Amino acid sequence: MNQRIQIFDTTLRDGEQVPGCQLKTEEKIVIARELELLGVDVIEAGFPISSPGDFLSVVEISKTVKEPIVCGLTRAKKEDIDVAAEALRYARRGRIHTGIGSSDVHIKHKFKSTREQVLEQAVWAVKYAKGKGFEVEFYAEDAGRADLEFLAQMTEAVIGAGADVVNIPDTTGYCLPHLYGKRIKFLVDNVKNIDKAVLSVHCHNDLGLATANTVSGVLNGARQVEVTINGIGERAGNTSLEEVAMIFQVHKDLCFETNIKPQKIYGLSKLVSGMMRMPVQANKAIVGANAFAHSSGIHQDGFLKHAENYEIMNPAQVGVPSSSIVLTARSGRAALKHRLELLGHRFEGEELNVFYENFLLVADEKKEVKDEDLMLLMANIPVLTK
Ligand code: KIV
Ligand code: ZN
Repeated sequence: MNQRIQIFDTTLRDGEQVPGCQLKTEEKIVIARELELLGVDVIEAGFPISSPGDFLSVVEISKTVKEPIVCGLTRAKKEDIDVAAEALRYARRGRIHTGIGSSDVHIKHKFKSTREQVLEQAVWAVKYAKGKGFEVEFYAEDAGRADLEFLAQMTEAVIGAGADVVNIPDTTGYCLPHLYGKRIKFLVDNVKNIDKAVLSVHCHNDLGLATANTVSGVLNGARQVEVTINGIGERAGNTSLEEVAMIFQVHKDLCFETNIKPQKIYGLSKLVSGMMRMPVQANKAIVGANAFAHSSGIHQDGFLKHAENYEIMNPAQVGVPSSSIVLTARSGRAALKHRLELLGHRFEGEELNVFYENFLLVADEKKEVKDEDLMLLMANIPVLTK
C-alpha cells in the first residue's frame, strides 16, 4: 500500500521572504485558495508577529480555506506564540510552527547561548504553544549542520513536550542527499518516542540539492515535505512543490502518494510567478518554458514518432497546454514537415528537401523560426532576418 506524504506549502511564508516578492493580503488569499484546490495539506500563511500585513494574511487565510491546516511561524518566544495563536483563531485547523537553532553555529553565534539553554527554551515553547490548543510543529533550525546526537536529544525532548510534527530543516542547503537521508534515519532509529510525531523535511537549494535531499528524507522515514511553488524562497530557494509531487507520480514504484492534483500545477506556477514578479527559468523542471519543448532534430524526430521516446510525463498531466517543437537550425526535416502540416501544407520528397534548405538559411540567422517566417518562405517572400 502507498504511504501518504503530507504536503506543507510555504510559498506564502518562506517563499514570500524573497526581496521584491512581497504580496498584499488579497493576493495571498487568491494563492491560498488555489493551493487548497491544488490539494496541499498545510498552508504556512505567514509569520504573524513580523508585520501587521503578515498577521492580517494569517487571519484572512484562516477564514478562507476549509480543508488545509493553516500554519503560522513563530520564534520560541512568548510574544510570537501569543500573536500567532491570535492570528490563527479562525482556522478550522490551526498549527503553530515554533522553533530555535539546533546547530552549534546558530547556538553560539546567533543565540549566544548553550545547548542546554536552547533545549530548555525549545521544550518550553512547545508546551506553551500546545497550551493554546493548536497543533504544534517544532523546527530545529539548521538541523542539517547540527550535532546528530544533540539533534536526536532535541527531537525526543520536543516530542515529549507535545510536538505533533518535528521539522528537520537544512536551513543553509548544506547537506548531500545520502547524508541528509542518514540524519533522518538516525532520528527514526534512535529517538525513543518518534512514533508520536511526524518527521518533516524542509530543504534549501544553495547547492541545487533541495529536491534530492527532500526525496532522500522521505525515503528514510520523513512523512511531511515543506515546499514552495516554483521553488521560490530565500537565496537559491526552497524545494519545489511540483518537482516532489511529480517525482512520486512518475516513480510509482516508490509507493508514495500525495493529495496534489497535478493538472493544477502549471496554472498555479504562472499565478505565483506573475503575482510575485518572479520569472521562472526556462529550463526549470515541470513548469519552465522549455520543460516540454524539443529543439534538436534527433529528439524532434523521435518525439514525433512516439512522445514517450523523449517525455517521461505528458504535459497535460501537469496542466501544460502542449509539448512544443521549436524550429531552429538544429531541427530536422521531420519536425519541419510536421509544422508545415499543422499550418495546412504538405511537403514531400524533393519539394521538402528544397524547402528545408531555404529553411536552414533562415534558421542560421534567426534563433527560432516562427510560423509567420514559414508562411513568408512558402510565399517566396524574403524573411526579415535581422
Ligand atoms: O529554513 C528554515 O530553517 C526555516 C525555518 C524557519 C523553518 O525556514
Ligand atoms: Zn526555510
